[in-house]
Amino acid sequence: MSRIAYVNGRYLPHRQAAIHVEDRGFQFADGVYEVIGVQGGCLIDERPHLERLARSLAALSIKAPMGERSLAHVMRETVRRNRVRSGILYLQITRGVARRDHAFPADAAPSLVMTARGNTMRAQEIAEKGCVAITVPDIRWKRCDIKTVSLLANVLAKQQANDVAAFEAIQVDEDGFITEGSTTNVWIIGQDGVLVTRPADHAILDGVTRRAIITLAARAALIFEERAFSVDEAKAAAEAFLTGTTAFVMPVTRIDDSAIGDGVPGPFSLRLLADYMAHAAAGGDCS
Ligand code: PDD
Repeated sequence: MSRIAYVNGRYLPHRQAAIHVEDRGFQFADGVYEVIGVQGGCLIDERPHLERLARSLAALSIKAPMGERSLAHVMRETVRRNRVRSGILYLQITRGVARRDHAFPADAAPSLVMTARGNTMRAQEIAEKGCVAITVPDIRWKRCDIKTVSLLANVLAKQQANDVAAFEAIQVDEDGFITEGSTTNVWIIGQDGVLVTRPADHAILDGVTRRAIITLAARAALIFEERAFSVDEAKAAAEAFLTGTTAFVMPVTRIDDSAIGDGVPGPFSLRLLADYMAHAAAGGDCS
């Protein structure tokens, strides 16, 4: 079956799906995006994803290309036309097409692109095995809370991880504190059993999965602290894990050369993974 992309009002086979050479997303990375999980053909945590999209658009003064109801319709239609049962929906909005000039164009219409693909069938299995992460300096700008398509630093970080067969590159700020992974948020569970993740300041993306885990941890009566933590603290932790739409809850068994805990996925991480999978299976909005 050929894949279908939505591009500015049309559903097209991927081969024919294209944007203008002067789209500002292409020339300036002047756009935002969302990646939303699909389970059983339903969109997981659609509402917080749409709320974050609205925040990203507002932060960059990009107009929404259509109302939320229409957007939700196109999202469902893109999932349906690609027959995705388990996978992801990708949505991107840019400031639109205009003659190249850094300042905002006066009258460009925003561009909207969506694709969907099924590929996360094995993600839970992979997550159960855990992963290895490396640390890299965080070289990004100061508004990482905006989900912009300007991802070059994240791309370089992920490639550094790939080069040494690691799953993720954990980014570290100038003070030695962990910000986040290239595509994930980072968590630790200290030797005292306290769950810790960095506050959602401008240095990280406030993950939709992150928010779900905060709720699930409260339900599991885990003691939770939102504060910055250092690489040394993470390496000495009992458990560490990553969260994100494509990674779910991914236990980290090693950071650089340090085994985390016993060097296998820890019980709290696996518990939160199971709870998250149940949340994803139940929380999909198929309406
Ligand atoms: N990335 N931090 C960064 C830098 C991310 O790119 C992502 C998600 C997250 C986790 O956010 P969420 O839980 O809402 O998926 C944290 C997506 C999946 C991507 O770029 O493919």
